[in-house]
Amino acid sequence: MIEFQHVFKSYGQGRNILADISFRVTAGEFVYVAGPSGAGKSTLLKLIGGLETPSRGSIQVNGHRLEQLSARARPYLRRSVGVILQDTHLLYDRSAIENVLLPLTVTGLASDVARARARAALDKVGLSTKENTPPIELSGGEQQRLAIARAIVNRPAILIADEPTASLDRETARRIMSVFKDFNRVGVTTVIASHDDALMAEYATRAFKIEPGKFADSAARRSSTATTQTSGPGYQEPQIGGAAR
Ligand SMILES: Nc1ncnc2c1ncn2[C@@H]1O[C@H](COP(=O)(O)OP(=O)(O)O)[C@@H](O)[C@H]1O
Ligand SMILES: [Mg+2]
Repeated sequence: MIEFQHVFKSYGQGRNILADISFRVTAGEFVYVAGPSGAGKSTLLKLIGGLETPSRGSIQVNGHRLEQLSARARPYLRRSVGVILQDTHLLYDRSAIENVLLPLTVTGLASDVARARARAALDKVGLSTKENTPPIELSGGEQQRLAIARAIVNRPAILIADEPTASLDRETARRIMSVFKDFNRVGVTTVIASHDDALMAEYATRAFKIEPGKFADSAARRSSTATTQTSGPGYQEPQIGGAAR
């Protein structure tokens, strides 16, 4: 489903942000990516989403080899991976449903079919009564749910989200996480970057921890494909509870 083999990533001539990372995530896993600011969490997610290319190594996502992805195959990858970036990039001058319709415009669906799909997506995140509301009039949690609706409207097999609960209070953060869990329960492979270890431990079944020059995988002891187990002074193994909610 998602496979990294000896992946390195640097920007321009800069240092390696990620160095020699290998792992395999199988369908239906719920992975959380931990690590301090600047460690490379967003970089890892962008590599999975095909928004950045690796400097070295091989990445396979849903059968696509990303380092040799043709321009023709790119839209298919985009549709199979739903991406929620740190900045949600919602269009504030459009209604909620128009934001969700946007990724469907390139698919050539008839407009009534597209609208029905967008409505279904809004319904899944609990926003069906807000379809005509512009994002500016939505709360932070509702805006995040709208970003999720837009990311899942193409029914992706993989959902990646970059710190989706960062600016939310506890209760709202939990509601957002339970939306992710609902999609994960029906088989969507989920990868979420977060600072909130305690919250993530309640939902994720596996943790990656990135620190400058280090990468640890909570599944490394169980799986021979996961490598680069690291240790060092002050280095803590990622802990996951894995209690499904
Ligand atoms: N487009 C870019 N060009 C140059 N450097 C970048 C770019 N994106 C991220 N970086 C650098 O890569 C490092 C990791 O960034 P990032 O992946 O955003 O970390 P995190 O999400 O863990 O905070 C940081 O030092 C950041 O400044
Ligand atoms: Mg980041």
